[in-house]
Formats: sequence, C-alpha cells, structure tokens
Amino acid sequence: MTLDNTSFALPVARTVESLRNVVSRWRQDGESVALVPTMGALHRGHLALVEKARANSDRVVVSIFVNPAQFAAHEDFGDYPRTEREDIEKLKPLGVDLIYGPAASEMYEPDFSTSIVVGGVSEGLCTVTRPHFFGGVALVVAKLLLQCLPDIAIFGEKDYQQLLVIRRMVRDLNIPVEILSGPTEREKDGLAISSRNVYLSGQERARAVEISRTLKEIVVAVERGGDIRSALAAGEARLKKAGFDPVDYLEVCDAVTLEPLTDLTCDARVLGAAHLGQTRLIDNFPISSAGSRRNPDV
Ligand code: PAJ
Repeated sequence: MTLDNTSFALPVARTVESLRNVVSRWRQDGESVALVPTMGALHRGHLALVEKARANSDRVVVSIFVNPAQFAAHEDFGDYPRTEREDIEKLKPLGVDLIYGPAASEMYEPDFSTSIVVGGVSEGLCTVTRPHFFGGVALVVAKLLLQCLPDIAIFGEKDYQQLLVIRRMVRDLNIPVEILSGPTEREKDGLAISSRNVYLSGQERARAVEISRTLKEIVVAVERGGDIRSALAAGEARLKKAGFDPVDYLEVCDAVTLEPLTDLTCDARVLGAAHLGQTRLIDNFPISSAGSRRNPDV
C-alpha cells in the first residue's frame, strides 16, 4: 500500500522535553536523525535542505524558530514573516517526521546569561555591520543541536559565513554532529531565494538580481586572472549604479578561513551584502584557483 503523507498531520513538538522523547524513541530503534534548522517562511532553498536530510537519514526534524538573539533592536524581528501553517503544509509531502517549533520562552529563560563567541571565521564580513549576529546564531544552533542531538544537521551555502561559523563552533566545542551543506537555490534570473525577498517592491525585485550578476562577473574576472581589487571596485560601482545603498561589503576571501584575498592563491569565495531600499541581500559564489592557474585564457 502506498502511503500518502499529505493526508497525515505532521507532529509538532513545542518543548525540549517532547522533542527529546520522540528522538530518544527513534534512537532506541537504532534510527539515525537529521535536523534542518530554519526560521520558517519556508521556500525552495529550505526544502532542498530537507530533501537532502531525508536522503541521508532515517528520521528528519525541521526546526522553525525566529531567533530573537540574532536580531539587533533596529532589525526586522517583529516584521520577519511567520507562516507556520503554510510551512507545515510544504513539509508534509517531503516525509518530514517532526517539526520542532518552541516558543521563545522555551528557548530562553528570562535570566538567560550564556554567550558563545566563535571568533575566527565569524570576524569581518557580516559582523562589521551586524556585530550581534553570529553570537545569536551560534547560541541558538548550539541549543538546537544539544536539544535534538541529531547525527547530522544541514545548512545552506547561501549563508556561507554562517555555515563556516557553525562548522567551527561544532568542531571547537566537540558537539557530536556532522554538518552537511546544500547549494544555494536561485530564482530563474539568478537571485538567491530568501525569506526576506518578500520585502522587495516590484521595482526592487527587478534590480535585486544585480547582486548575483555582479558577484558572477567578479568570479569570471578573477578566474581569468584579473586583479581582485579592480574586479571588486568595478563590482561595487555596478551595485551602486543599480541602486544598492549601502553596499555593506564585497570581498574575495579564502574559502576556508574567510581571510580577504588580493591574489588568488587558494580556492576562494566572493561574498557580498548590500541594501536595496529596506531589504538587505546577501549572496556568494565559489572561485576556483585551479582553473585560473591551469588555463588563464578560459
Ligand atoms: P533561515 O534564513 O530560515 O535559513 C535556514 C537554512 O536555510 C540556512 O541553513 C540557510 O543557509 C538555508 N537557506 C536559506 N536560503 C537558501 C537558499 N536559497 N538555498 C539554499 N539554502 C538556503 O539561517 C537561518 O535561518 C538562521 O540563522 C538559523 C541557522 C536557523 C539559526 O536561527
């Protein structure tokens, strides 16, 4: 008999205790567990990570929690899209076993006072304009991992610095979980899909694609052996011309350490963040050093 998952309700755990009860039953049966942490407002990018979790594990938990600790007072915590009902509908056909949707009071006691400072890869880039951000992400991801104790947890390359920060934290704190990543899902025109794209007006949406095009142009220039500084300067001018203001950063970095590069001496990543009206967009692409050394004319 074929099971139609869409006709079943998807269980939602609201407390750490209920999450742990379900997961420990799976563990007793010898099943492996994957966690996909999200802040909801699910789109194709999130769902691709869920599919990867499904393919790599017996059981899949998706957490939906808009984490107050990673928003500064002036940021969009209040406005962040909250669409739990629709999110659950999207997850049903994917064979998800459990949603974890705790209230903020379940995650943070009123006198919560612990912080995590990852350092290293969390310095620079997003931290320059969002100094609170990776502390908040590290905290909630550490908590989610310790609450669920999955075998694997999956994060998107869309948030490349975040992915490296989480890998570093898990390594440094010996958290017993394997971190997997999934590639960035994009709209047809190349814009990276993001829950925040709903903030864009029609006119802004048309111009938003310039961030991915600009980053791609930098990849091509640098892989052809072009000067990194000049490629970045041309990219910044292109973004400003398209109406991005301010451009928070545009950098070519070592793909592993995130140290800024001026020469392509190792595999690299071009990363950018810029504001279009009220919306902050981020994106990144890999830059291969091998190609440029082997054949500089391609
Ligand atoms: P959120 O923005 O909801 O993203 C959840 C996961 O989906 C992250 O790992 C993110 O990198 C990934 N993702 C987002 N857009 C994507 C896309 N277009 N293609 C592929 N993956 C994509 O990132 C967060 O939430 C939070 O910071 C979180 C890690 C949940 C901690 O609160």
